[in-house]
Amino acid sequence: MSSYEQLATDAVAQIEGAGDLDTLEALRPALLGKKAPVSLAKKDLGSLEPDQRKDAGQAINAARQRIESTFTARHADLASAARAVALEAERLDLTEFQAAPHAGHLHLITQSRDRLEDVFIGMGYTVAEGPEVETAWYNFEALNIPEWHPARGSFDTIFVNLGEPEEVMLRSHTSPVQIRTMETQEPPIYIIAPGRTFRTDTADATHLPAFNQLEGLVIDKGITMGDLAGTIDEFVRTFFGAEVKTRLRPSFFPFTEPSAEFDISLPDGSWLELGGCGMVHPNVLRNCGIDPEIWQGFAFGFGIDRLAVMRYRLDDIRELVNNDVRFLRQF
Ligand code: FA5
Repeated sequence: MSSYEQLATDAVAQIEGAGDLDTLEALRPALLGKKAPVSLAKKDLGSLEPDQRKDAGQAINAARQRIESTFTARHADLASAARAVALEAERLDLTEFQAAPHAGHLHLITQSRDRLEDVFIGMGYTVAEGPEVETAWYNFEALNIPEWHPARGSFDTIFVNLGEPEEVMLRSHTSPVQIRTMETQEPPIYIIAPGRTFRTDTADATHLPAFNQLEGLVIDKGITMGDLAGTIDEFVRTFFGAEVKTRLRPSFFPFTEPSAEFDISLPDGSWLELGGCGMVHPNVLRNCGIDPEIWQGFAFGFGIDRLAVMRYRLDDIRELVNNDVRFLRQF
């Protein structure tokens, strides 16, 4: 073996002995740099006879190529090994997330409320809120239900032991939000107010003592009962399906005149009551500083829990609050 071949063989042994990229790179100057034996060997050529020079030149080049190609191959191997180690270290175990067994979902009432909000927001309404504990002014008086009015009794109100007797109460409907909105906003007004309401009702298949209502209020110029009927029809079709019809039946509420109950059609041809509605009473507008000669409007209110009972064909409204996960998981 020529001394050049020997030189290459030694270099190859060192390259293959390098266990990582840093060690390999540290060898580069000594094996392939200007002062490396294969580089210095070229200087020997000048002292050789011309016929020997050619053979020696070829031998040096061959040695250099062998060292270079070994170095390049070893570099590629070590780099890919290093990448594999890094990938393994940074690996995320996504199966851990896929397998999450207890991902919950929104309660049926919340889902229904969200959908109703979407329907009305799509019709240009905004969402208003009010407190769950109210004064007699907002829950009754401003709504044209004075203290002597028999309608007060029909609301089965739960009073709170604060201040004057029967002055502070859990709101028995969402209609107080009508008053709070008209007090603080200039017409035109297009709002809905979903929220919790409370009555002394005993829980049974169609009643809960704490339930949810959705109130609607529109105040604008030239509003008629036709606008009210059209709005109810539109929301019922969007929520229940295009085949469901609505009808208004004359009724009485102190805060609307005329007043009506609204029903929806069932597949068997019968009708089911959904809520109350009517044209906002001029006294209510005046109580909020709105001139009834200029502005008119309509209001409606219905039970969200009852609506969910109808839409999902539940047998008993109490299922909604029993918190039996086997029931809740179905929705
Ligand atoms: C009212 O509460 C009026 N504020 C509705 C209204 C608003 C009329 C605006 C006109 C203008 P009522 O007491 O009928 O009306 O209740 C409305 C709806 O609430 C009922 O149709 C029913 O869907 C629901 N509801 C009433 N009591 C309960 C209860 N205990 N459990 C579940 N839902 C109830």
